Amino acid sequence: MAAVEKMQSPSPSKRTATLSVGDKNVSFPIYDGVEGPSVIDISKLYGETGFFTYDPGFMSTASCDSKITFIDGDKGILRYRGYDIDALAEKCDFLEVAYLLLNGELPNKKDKQSFDRTVTLHTMIHEQLHFLFRGFPRASHPMAIMVGAAASLSAFYHDSLDINVAGERELAAYRLIAKMPTLAAMAYKYSVGMPFIYPQNDMSFAENFLHMMFATPCEKYKVNPVLAKAMDKILILHADHEQNASTSTVRMAGSSGANPFACIGAGIASLWGPAHGGANEAVINMLKEIGDVSKIPDFIKKVKDKQSGIKLMGFGHRVYKNYDPRATVLRKTCQEVLAELGKIDEPLLKMAVELERIALSDEYFVERKLYPNVDFYSGIIYRAMGIPSKMFTVLFAVARTVGWVAQWKEMMEDPKTKIGRPRQLFTGSAPRAFVPLEKR
Ligand code: ACO
Repeated sequence: MAAVEKMQSPSPSKRTATLSVGDKNVSFPIYDGVEGPSVIDISKLYGETGFFTYDPGFMSTASCDSKITFIDGDKGILRYRGYDIDALAEKCDFLEVAYLLLNGELPNKKDKQSFDRTVTLHTMIHEQLHFLFRGFPRASHPMAIMVGAAASLSAFYHDSLDINVAGERELAAYRLIAKMPTLAAMAYKYSVGMPFIYPQNDMSFAENFLHMMFATPCEKYKVNPVLAKAMDKILILHADHEQNASTSTVRMAGSSGANPFACIGAGIASLWGPAHGGANEAVINMLKEIGDVSKIPDFIKKVKDKQSGIKLMGFGHRVYKNYDPRATVLRKTCQEVLAELGKIDEPLLKMAVELERIALSDEYFVERKLYPNVDFYSGIIYRAMGIPSKMFTVLFAVARTVGWVAQWKEMMEDPKTKIGRPRQLFTGSAPRAFVPLEKR
């Protein structure tokens, strides 16, 4: 891989921010990014004033500086290393984008060939790992298997665990990106009681994944190019998304010096939640629960009733208060896949279209800027392809592994990196006398 641009300290702008605490005025440097909001560096706040900041959910907190991904949620912009996501999804393949995220530049032909070849040569997993899979009940959620399987790679690859050696970090990156689709397809095959299918080196990343999912030892699987292209696009669109919950989890785990395989296991755990990567599965479950287009108005009523606790899954986003640019790409891909498979009239898909229509015109959603997010369409595409809903978040993890690894490497190569250790506002019991067991 090409050398990554060295991380430097952000340079302070001429502006400062002043905070008055009691009779003290304290100034803090302001740093300007290339785009997006500037930040106030409050790292010396505690030392100067004895106060911490308080920001549950990181609503106003930048946890790091990064050169990888830029999002402007109000304008609906997502860029990897300066390139608009729609251009990358249209014109690149997934490994080209993986190279870009990791190295900062798009590869030339020679670099691409060499990168593709190296990833391809790492797609197999150690045979011993088959026994790990066999230890799980067949009904396990594949994300449960993935959390364990990804982290367990650290038990097999001792030559890529030294996070202080650039070559070992790079080898771990290749291994993770290459082996995740193999592990994901194995999790699926295991859940349906079918033999594992080995990777094929003459296939692209997306083709190989579909092959490992759907081929059987007794039946050749011919990869449909429309589906392979759609899969490639979905992978690109999910590859990175700045400092989201799972990426922040990977960074936090890595900040202690944990090995990259364990960190990615932590990222997968975080991604599993329905407010994050689990939403695409939740979209299909929601559509099944609604059951019929005629029941949609009643469902929307429940969503708008705060007492019900029901949310319209696949809508809304912490950062995008406009159309999610990934959803724009996938909306079109969704139509292409459905047309190719002759599934335009599928009832669940008809319901999805109707929900989208209502939500985009209903005052509740318009006022709150709740637009369809990437998960709304990815779930529909996966379902049309025959991928079971339990695998949706697993696919998200396969794609996001590239972003996690790029962000982890960036952090490890940043001399400013410190162990992540937030503080708290203590609201528990004041000091009190211990009461012995017999007197309680
Ligand atoms: N359905 C109904 N109402 C919603 C929804 C929704 N999907 N999302 C937000 N709202 C409402 C909230 O109830 C709140 O209303 P209020 O102002 O009257 O109290 C308002 O919109 C603002 O929402 P917040 O919860 O403050 O937004 P936040 O940024 O915290 O949440 C989140 C973002 C978690 C994504 C939320 O929109 C949600 O739960 N959506 C459904 C799950 C989903 O699709 N997640 C995938 C995210 S994309 C990804 O991870 C790739």
